[in-house]
Amino acid sequence: MSKIVVKGGQRLLGDIKVSGAKNSALKIMAAAILTDKPVILRNVPDIADVRIMINVLRELGVEVETVGGGDIHITSTKTLKSKAPYHLVNQMRASVIALGPLLARLGEAQFAMPGGCNIGSRKIDLHIRGLELMGAEINVRHGYIEAKADRLRGADIHLAFPSVGATENLMMAAVLAKGKTWIRNAAKEPEIVDLAKCLIEMGAKVSGAGTETISIDGVTELHGVDYTVMPDRIETGTYMVAGAITDGEIFLKGACSDHLKIVVSKLRQIGIEINCYPDGIEVKSNGKILSTNVSTLPYAGFPTDLQAPFMALLSLAKGTSVITENVFESRFVYVNELRSLGGKIDIESHHAIVHGSRSLVGAKVKAPDLRGGAALIIAGLASEGSTEISDVFHIDRGYDSIVEKLSFLGADIHRTKSETNLQFINFNQAPRANISTAQ
Ligand code: EPZ
Repeated sequence: MSKIVVKGGQRLLGDIKVSGAKNSALKIMAAAILTDKPVILRNVPDIADVRIMINVLRELGVEVETVGGGDIHITSTKTLKSKAPYHLVNQMRASVIALGPLLARLGEAQFAMPGGCNIGSRKIDLHIRGLELMGAEINVRHGYIEAKADRLRGADIHLAFPSVGATENLMMAAVLAKGKTWIRNAAKEPEIVDLAKCLIEMGAKVSGAGTETISIDGVTELHGVDYTVMPDRIETGTYMVAGAITDGEIFLKGACSDHLKIVVSKLRQIGIEINCYPDGIEVKSNGKILSTNVSTLPYAGFPTDLQAPFMALLSLAKGTSVITENVFESRFVYVNELRSLGGKIDIESHHAIVHGSRSLVGAKVKAPDLRGGAALIIAGLASEGSTEISDVFHIDRGYDSIVEKLSFLGADIHRTKSETNLQFINFNQAPRANISTAQ
């Protein structure tokens, strides 16, 4: 298994282009199941989770062609299969997002119950309850979800929690249902809006995406679409933090500051200069990092996916910060690894008390999950000496060309020789580093 080695002390300087959003692309790929017409997706990130979703779709009988440069062509004309392969659903819990579209298109679906992961139980009771309200008959047997519905019907659904996945699954199920559906207490994340925009361009009748009530008038069929995925706000936030922790001066081309208002405000609050432009975000740091308190919340609150990168940054702040994780029940698994780098962090229930240190020291650490792994890279960028990160397959799930991008910005970072266990599907024959000056 490959490792990532970072030698700390280099300021990040220059421009890079942010990639398409993982947490939008995966859902929009699943939305292609809703039509038998060709769907072209652009700006799809070259990451492991996309490769897994491509395999899930292919196993369901969907034709998927990766044509390079982040474009994917998807056609669901052939007879679709109703059973998602166990080993793929097990690899990526996000695959369950295909349940709603498959049920809407085919009237039946069998999916392995997605497992939990290191950040929490990751239940899907809200997905199931909503589909049952829409007339689906759902049984969970021997670890499989077996769903049937001759034709889903519109329903008035009130989510107990604004779950991103449940909102997306139910929105996609509703676009072909008979009648009108309301999703109340819906998630408001920008990825929900991106999915809704794509569905509307496919002929769906969706309104209210981005607010707490989404209404959908079911139609009988959808047509194809040529759609460009939104920029990845979590990748953007990760690089903003990397620029901040290295006293850097970077420009994130294509980043959308509207999606990151609270992150921009927090970084300014702790002394980082952030300038927002129509074509991207500039980050300038002078080495001074003040402490602050952060509480993760559903959008437009502080994103839980940036909790770990932010903790790496606050580990070097002047003073003590408190980070509270309100979205997932165990999203501090990576903290032990951060302590190995010198982070002084106490955990009390869902609070992390971060005592700012004067310095961090490189060490051998292990990525426990996607965002925790990113946090270890960020800490390594600012540590004295070298940091060797193993289990980097977690990081490769969601960051497109992270080693190439950081290296382009001046980081002393490389991936060890032992080949990654990823087969680079010929998106364009090699890991694509979205580097603006190269374009
Ligand atoms: C999406 O996960 C994202 N993943 C996550 O990003 C992100 O952290 C999360 O939304 C919150 O913003 C993708 O989009 C692929 P939820 P999702 O349903 O849909 C509970 C990353 O790092 N819940 O909003 O699974 C659940 O247990 C990943 O890119 C139920 O109880 O998030 C959790 O505590 C990590 N029952 C909370 O809601 C349900 O039926 C938030 O889950 C569904 C969820």
